[in-house]
Amino acid sequence: MAMATMLGFMMAIIVITGIVGALHPSSNVEVVEPQTLHLNGEFVESNLGTAVEPDGTVTVRIVAQQYDFVPRCIQVPANTPVKFRLTSADVVHGFLLPDTNVNTMIVPGFVSEVRTSFAAPGEYAMPCHEFCGLGHHAMWAHVSVLPRERFANLTPLERTSCAPD
Ligand code: CUA
Repeated sequence: MAMATMLGFMMAIIVITGIVGALHPSSNVEVVEPQTLHLNGEFVESNLGTAVEPDGTVTVRIVAQQYDFVPRCIQVPANTPVKFRLTSADVVHGFLLPDTNVNTMIVPGFVSEVRTSFAAPGEYAMPCHEFCGLGHHAMWAHVSVLPRERFANLTPLERTSCAPD
């Protein structure tokens, strides 16, 4: 009997903390509405891609969806702090840049933020690394790291279009 009471008490604690946690997500977690990403807020299409901040650092905003990253090609300057902000329009995806510290899950309803810096120009393949459906294996994008001076000369449109040179 005491055992059953204990168990009931523990279950109650788990349920209550679960409910409270769901109602009040911890403060370091940013939430977004996946259904309306394209309509308003930070992740509208015109706001995606690489943006240069007033302090010279770079912010890259990406939406993951079955089975694409938008935009699919990203250009960033070398030797510059880069902040990736990602969210999903549908299911859980993964964002991985091999040989860097960038490796995060992209969960619908939340913003994933990863900071890094690329020491040298180069091309990085960017596979989705979380199984997200039949097209998962074909879900790729890439990051093109350009010399700082070259990046500075790109127009805002060129920064997201990755036109071959
Ligand atoms: Cu998206 Cu796997």
